[in-house]
Amino acid sequence: SPLTIAIDGPSGSGKSSVSKAVARELGLGYLDTGAMYRAVAWHCLDQEVDLTDQEAVAQAARDLPLEISTDPDDQTLRVGGTDITSAIRETRVTSQVSTVATNLDVRAELRRRQREIISEARDERGGIVAEGRDITTVVAPDAEHRILVTASEEARLARRSTELHGGADADQVEATRDQIVRRDRQDSTVSAFMEAADGVVTLDTSELDFDQVVAAVLALVRG
Ligand code: CDP
Repeated sequence: SPLTIAIDGPSGSGKSSVSKAVARELGLGYLDTGAMYRAVAWHCLDQEVDLTDQEAVAQAARDLPLEISTDPDDQTLRVGGTDITSAIRETRVTSQVSTVATNLDVRAELRRRQREIISEARDERGGIVAEGRDITTVVAPDAEHRILVTASEEARLARRSTELHGGADADQVEATRDQIVRRDRQDSTVSAFMEAADGVVTLDTSELDFDQVVAAVLALVRG
């Protein structure tokens, strides 16, 4: 029977790479919902949509011709044929994405699309690992498995710095820390992704390496 694995967690918790590995291991689809928020932010910057104009940003989200893959081995993201897979990771997008994500009409639109993608993957792929900030609570509260991946601030900062700079000098670590703290603060105004809701299992990964986190998630799923 179809399986949805919902995984939430803050920036630098390692949830994206872990979710992808779990999806591969179980032969399921994979959905990076953060990439969808990033795509809306990228599009607004690209089209010079005024980010303070809530209605304009909401309309841009509703009109966005977004194509997102649920293949864990091909995470190509396109908007109307343009490949934006790497563009959505640029700092200018990262620094604006929370503004877009706090727009409730944008959230309503993306959640609707996410539920559609999950339902299609359940029919066509046997299920999906969907990750983000509000998957366990709002997008897929009925998921067979719901996990909150947490990590201490130091652990998250270390992971994010390695991801972004492949090691780090002190200035880069400081800049990354500021960015993460600011984004967490802004994100937590719309979803409580730092605490597990009822029935959600918390997995603290501060002391675990990547393989251990993947193994822990697989153990939870396999029971
Ligand atoms: O870079 P990181 O992995 O932390 O973030 P991401 O998963 O790419 O998500 C980027 C941004 O999208 C987050 O900072 C949130 O503002 C927003 N987001 C959200 O609001 N709800 C989700 N389910 C996923 C992401």
